[in-house]
Amino acid sequence: MPHHRRAFLRFLAASPVASTLALPELLRAAQEADGRTAAGQEAYVIRSPAEALDVFEFREAARASLPPAHFGYIQTGVENGLTFRRNHEAYDEIELRVRRLVDVSRVDTSLELFGRRWDSPIIVAPCGSQRAFHEDGELATARAAKSQGHLQVLSTVTTTSVEDVTEARGEPVWYQLYPTPMWSITERLIERAEGAGSPALVLTVDSPTGSDRDPGERAARADERDCVRCHAVPFERKPMFDGVDMTDAGGIFNPAMDWAYVRRLRDATDMKIVLKGIVRSDDADRAVVEGVDAIVVSNHGGRSEESGRATVESLPEVVDAVGGRIPVIVDGGIRHGNDILKALAIGADAVQIGRPYLWGLGAFGQAGVEGVLQMLRGELALAMKFAGAPTIADLDRDLLVGF
Ligand SMILES: Cc1cc2nc3c(=O)[nH]c(=O)nc-3n(C[C@H](O)[C@H](O)[C@H](O)COP(=O)(O)O)c2cc1C
Repeated sequence: MPHHRRAFLRFLAASPVASTLALPELLRAAQEADGRTAAGQEAYVIRSPAEALDVFEFREAARASLPPAHFGYIQTGVENGLTFRRNHEAYDEIELRVRRLVDVSRVDTSLELFGRRWDSPIIVAPCGSQRAFHEDGELATARAAKSQGHLQVLSTVTTTSVEDVTEARGEPVWYQLYPTPMWSITERLIERAEGAGSPALVLTVDSPTGSDRDPGERAARADERDCVRCHAVPFERKPMFDGVDMTDAGGIFNPAMDWAYVRRLRDATDMKIVLKGIVRSDDADRAVVEGVDAIVVSNHGGRSEESGRATVESLPEVVDAVGGRIPVIVDGGIRHGNDILKALAIGADAVQIGRPYLWGLGAFGQAGVEGVLQMLRGELALAMKFAGAPTIADLDRDLLVGF
């Protein structure tokens, strides 16, 4: 058991509130130890994004606003949530060797990806079903990404069409692809993404099948509503499948997907191909050899395999194998500016965030997503100042202990 979690459970056990907490509450607290979930932090629920001190305060506001099943859907990992927790805890275990006496009066967090300059290395990760978290769903996220100038990746199982999201974003988004077992459906999804001008197709390779999301299921048990908006006839409610007969499609996962599928995709479109879910050096090298344009080191936020291995632990071998030939993006467990700084120092070109912006969305809609993005951007700039690293190019492994 990682030492942070042990310490947290020890704290809980010693706490005077422990004896008054029921076992499920203790378990819940332990499962959500993806940050400093101290009792005092949960006591105060922010009423506006401006009040937030860190992204976890958006989480508590979302918990307070959302039905248990929907909040549970955001939070869930698989099985006992080991990989989900580990993703964040592993960042805490990396120490910085900061530089002193560097002029940090100006900090530049900008970077270039596929020939486009971005002010921030923070990307809005593809997350499905966002109208379950706020009635404006992906539109609110797109408007926030636009006002804050962030790259947005849209999920195949979005509850708003790629055309409408592109309009709200004011420029094309990257499109995430779940490869259904039926190629004709994949072709239709590619056509829609191309039609909306998406420059990149992000193939999720970490989900050969649906995963075992016990924590989310457990949360759903506590929810007695009849939620037709998100659960009845699922594909009819996902606009990317409008006009597509999903009866015999076999769902959205494709257990037969292999490197031949990647090649087929490569040949089917001029969009850049990004593989999301690579965690090993040999797969990373193969991706480059197969002509893939970028990699996202990801375990789906601890929602696919229960490896117990954080993405930031996979990152060094992937970065080394890629050797700068294509961009490497990482996601999973990023909750503070210092986490971003550490990922970039290891060698990631950019990072994605998932749950934090969903917390903002669930709590305050567009303003909440904006609040989370501003929070993380501000924290990153501060972390860079304290590290003596005024530009992204100054972030390297020399800043990290043991790398
Ligand atoms: C509620 C939710 C829905 C998600 N839906 C998708 C999806 O449709 N496609 C996908 O590739 N990843 C999906 N993800 C994974 C995210 O893209 C991302 O990899 C992950 O959230 C990053 O970890 P973090 O939440 O700790 O930041 C989802 C994650 C969450 C929390």
